[in-house]
Amino acid sequence: MSSRAPLVLAGILSAAALAFAACGGGGGGAAAPTATRAAPAPTAARAATTAAPAGGDVARGKALIVSQGCAACHTIASVPGAVGAVGPRLDAGPILPGKANEPGIGTRAATRKPPLTEAQYIEESIREPDAFAVPDFQKGLMPKLPVSDAQVKDLVAFLLTLK
Ligand code: HEC
Repeated sequence: MSSRAPLVLAGILSAAALAFAACGGGGGGAAAPTATRAAPAPTAARAATTAAPAGGDVARGKALIVSQGCAACHTIASVPGAVGAVGPRLDAGPILPGKANEPGIGTRAATRKPPLTEAQYIEESIREPDAFAVPDFQKGLMPKLPVSDAQVKDLVAFLLTLK
């Protein structure tokens, strides 16, 4: 038994070293980039299964506009404090002060990025803000906010009501 102990110990040590390298532990070897590339896979899979969210809560979504900071950049007349003009107005009206009137996001989302549905386009706008630049606006201004899947559904449910 005792003669095998050093071997077992060596096995544990090399396993630990491998785990360290696989976690990108500064080795700079081939293992680190592989681990980095593999990481986004679960996120992509989750996004695919929630491409068309259903069952969001309109009232919760309205509250999230303020609590998640959307109100700082977007105007929505029915949401107190939502007077931002960094991003497009989300209810009906000029998307920027001085521009022509447009329908609300619940309507215009249908024509933004066919064949995406209104719900799919709004969800993409929240999850991947730079996937599409709204005319008159630039990419890179809207941050990816840390909203949960359930919160995205609630936001989409509320924004769809803005016709
Ligand atoms: C720092 C400012 C900022 C914040 C905060 C922000 N946005 Fe935006 N948003 C923008 C800008 C700028 C655009 C237009 C450029 C683009 O499409 O990336 C935009 C675009 C959008 C669009 C597409 C509008 C259209 O007419 O097609 C939606 C929907 C949207 N934002 C929803 C949200 C929601 C929901 C939140 C909060 C979770 C949020 N935004 C937070 C700046 C912001």
